[in-house]
Order: sequence, then structure tokens, then C-alpha cells
Amino acid sequence: MGSLKLQNVKKSFGKVDVLKGIDLEVTDGEFVVFVGPSGCGKSTLLRIIAGLEDLTGGDVRIDGEKVDHVPPAQRGIAMVFQTYALYPHLTVKNNMGLGLKQAGTPAAEIEKRIAASSAMLSLEPYLERRPAELSGGQRQRVAIGRALVREPKLFLFDEPLSNLDAALRVNTRLEIAQLHRRLKATMIYVTHDQVEAMTLADKIVVLNNGQIEQVGGPMELYNSPANEFVASFIGSPRMNFIDGARLGETAKTVGVRPEHLTVDKKKGTWKGTVIHAEHLGADTNLYIDTEKAGLLTVRIFGVYNAEPGATVYATPEPGKTYRFGSDGKVMA
Ligand SMILES: Nc1ncnc2c1ncn2[C@@H]1O[C@H](COP(=O)(O)OP(=O)(O)OP(=O)(O)O)[C@@H](O)[C@H]1O
Ligand SMILES: [Mg+2]
Repeated sequence: MGSLKLQNVKKSFGKVDVLKGIDLEVTDGEFVVFVGPSGCGKSTLLRIIAGLEDLTGGDVRIDGEKVDHVPPAQRGIAMVFQTYALYPHLTVKNNMGLGLKQAGTPAAEIEKRIAASSAMLSLEPYLERRPAELSGGQRQRVAIGRALVREPKLFLFDEPLSNLDAALRVNTRLEIAQLHRRLKATMIYVTHDQVEAMTLADKIVVLNNGQIEQVGGPMELYNSPANEFVASFIGSPRMNFIDGARLGETAKTVGVRPEHLTVDKKKGTWKGTVIHAEHLGADTNLYIDTEKAGLLTVRIFGVYNAEPGATVYATPEPGKTYRFGSDGKVMA
């Protein structure tokens, strides 16, 4: 069990309203990812769920029970932070078992849980080492293991992989996905990484300025963003936004994703000049200054050779443009 319900959750620090009424339901076993710009309130919301921060208003329910007066240690929650803060003088095994020991768990039970968790995270060879003798990725796995042994009903992760290098992030991302599948535990995960959000989440919550902009599955947010903010936030490189008036449209803004534009050297909808090409190997990002639609980013699959200054035409794929009204909301 590990369902969560937030009702009109508000948080102010002094005069600053950081969370402005968050309503959210997380069902048991769900993997929910919070994304949003720096300072929008993601960590604050996690800390409120964990009980590390008091509410200014609203309710937090875990498995239907209001937890306002339940101290963090008794909420059945384990939190994994970006900085893993392991005890340097303790072995991996003792780092993992410390919390249980302090809670008075019998030694045999602690052994059993450490064995199970370390097997799950491939940490068995390192149990007698100290954190200084581990790589960054191994340390982060120990931090996850320390959460795992507590057998929480709810895991909270606050950017757990952002200290790792690119290859390790991919590995650890995979491990977290597998862990979730095996444990069927509820997980709430904060990240700045688009790929992590898209690949791990059952449900993504897009936060902005202390409010939820949209909640939905990764593909739902990608295909049907509710507004310009979500459209610009989900997808990389980000969506192109074109002034509707320049295109003779009633919409305030027309959006088209870089991967939904094709280029041709002879003909197409918007004539422009290549100003820069980014060759990523698997694909190419072209930046084109067009007469009609302004600066456009185009993502082309594979290698595409175009010199700065060359004339090209960009054409949006039919049915793949978005129209936004003056309120920023998507138009029907
Ligand atoms: N203890 C505090 N006192 C005052 N203001 C705070 C406190 N903690 C957080 N804030 C403010 O609340 C806002 C939200 O902070 P929070 O850490 O939740 O953002 P975040 O979305 O996690 O950002 P990031 O992506 O940078 O981690 C920020 O403007 C921050 O300055
Ligand atoms: Mg944060």
C-alpha cells in the first residue's frame, strides 16, 4: 500500500507563497515524476510529503489517512537525495542497516533485508567497503539501498542521479526502472532530465511557480500539451513558437516541434537561411532563420549537410502544429 492524496496543499515561507494549492492523486504502485523550472517548488513538495516541512494549508493523505501529525519516521516513506550523505566511517553494510538498527529492528531481520537489497542493487561485493572506496554511482546505489531496506510504502527521490556522469545515469536509470517493476512500490521522483522523466514516469506532473500546469502520461504531455508552458517544457530541443499574426493565423502563437519539421533545399513552406548546424551523429539540429516564421530549430534524423548561409525550406508535418490562444492555452 502506498497511495497519496494532496488536497489544496499550500506552503509559504514568510510572505513568499511557494506552493499555491496543489491537488494530486498518486495511486499505489505508480511512478510519478515531478518536473518544472528551478525554484518552482518540487523539493518543497517532496519535503512536505515526507513530513520534513510543515504545511501552510491543505491536506496530505497517505493510504487515506491524514498525516499532518505523523512524524517523518512513521510515515512509511524513504527519501533519496541528490547528495547521498553516507556516513564516511561506516561500511556500506552498516550505512544500509543504521536506520533499522536505530529503529530497534532485530539483527537477523536487518541482515536479511540488507542481503535482499544489496542483491537487488548488485552491491554484494562492496558491503564491507567504506563510501570513500566506492564510485559515485555505487554510492548512489548505497543511498537507494538504505531506503530500500526500510521497505517503505512510498519512495521519494529528489534528483538522485544528477551527480552522476552520463553513462552512469543511464545505468542507474535502468536500475531504478527495474527496481520499480520488481517492488511495485509507489515512487515520486524529481528530475531536471527530460529523458528520465519520459522514460521512468507512469505520470508526469509539470509544476510551474508553485502550481500544477498539467498531469499526464509522458506521451500525453508530448502529444497533447494543455498550454504553451507544458509544450515548451516537454520535448528537446524545445518546440518552436511562431507569432500567429505573421502566419495570418487567429491563434496568438503557433507551435511546431523541431522533429515535426522537414527541410528541403529546393521547396517548402518557409524559406530561410541556415545559421548553424549541430551534428550529433544520430541526428542533426539545424537552426534556420526564416522570412515568415522567424528562427526555427529543425531536428533531422541522421546526418544532414548544410553550410551556414545556405538557403533551405522548412515544412511542418501536416497535423503536427499546435495553436495557442492569448491565454497560453491550447486552442480546440
Ligand atoms: N526554508 C526556506 N525558506 C525560504 N524560502 C525557501 C525555503 N526553502 C525553499 N524556499 C524557496 O521556495 C522556492 C521553491 O524551492 P524548491 O527547493 O522547492 O524548488 P525546486 O523546484 O526544488 O528547485 P530546484 O529545481 O532548483 O531544486 C524557491 O524560491 C526557494 O528559494
Ligand atoms: Mg529541488
